[in-house]
Amino acid sequence: MATNDPPVAPADPLQAAAAAIRKARHVCVLTGAGISAESGIPTFRDALTGLWSKFRPEELATPEAFERDPELVWKWYEWRRDLVRHAEPNAGHRALVELARRVPRLTLVTQNVDGLHQRAGSPMVLEYHGNILRDRCMVEGVVAERADDARAGLPRCAACGGLLRPDVVWFGEAIPRTPMMLAAAAAEDCDVFLSVGTSSLVYPAAGLAQAAAARGAVVIEVNPDATDLTPQVPFALQGPAGRILPDLCAALGPRVAG
Ligand code: APR
Repeated sequence: MATNDPPVAPADPLQAAAAAIRKARHVCVLTGAGISAESGIPTFRDALTGLWSKFRPEELATPEAFERDPELVWKWYEWRRDLVRHAEPNAGHRALVELARRVPRLTLVTQNVDGLHQRAGSPMVLEYHGNILRDRCMVEGVVAERADDARAGLPRCAACGGLLRPDVVWFGEAIPRTPMMLAAAAAEDCDVFLSVGTSSLVYPAAGLAQAAAARGAVVIEVNPDATDLTPQVPFALQGPAGRILPDLCAALGPRVAG
């Protein structure tokens, strides 16, 4: 087969994907907003329900926006925090906990800031875009506790009194060094790469699947809709993560004792 032929879709992609996972030494998983959609947290780019169909990212998710109007940005993040606090992990999150028990090594990289993987029981999660429930001090640049006496409604650092911001990565900002390095290393080392619930539009996260494929890894995509990545992967499992991931775990067959 010439190298630039598009991958041939197998008759039963779910079974074929499971067969690739059964043989895997190291599985790297990248998740996006789609895996939390079934927990009631809106995605970003869904045409009707996506956050960016209602709000303008440049007004709410950039350092410039925060400098311009920190109250507005904080109001929006407090609203999203409330959604996250009231959400529960779903069957998709739980299936990844199970998958980690079924393979010799699994690296879980998430673009999500909701902490639902950890709440589902995933032991090690690389938070590529930070975590919405943490505060970061604008002065010291570190995760910080809140001062009790929040003046003027804006949260302040308990240590230095500096203004706090959500500990997330805004547009135009760099990915935190440790998760970025560990995710790149895992993508280059894995033999199966599982891309779940992401539109594969935002870099550098969207480049991880290609980096894995370039090293010969089998790339599997789980998404109800086609993305830019779909034509490039051998196994595109079309459906909601909350159904497909448990089915994928079930297709691995019974767990071998010991
Ligand atoms: N299961 C699996 N995938 C789903 C589901 C579901 N139940 N529901 C929706 N999806 C898919 C959509 O088809 C879409 O391709 O999830 C994807 C969500 O895409 P985006 O909204 O673009 O979210 P994401 O890829 O995580 O965005 C990347 O962009 O806005 C920034 O920092 C933000 O981390 C985010 C980054």
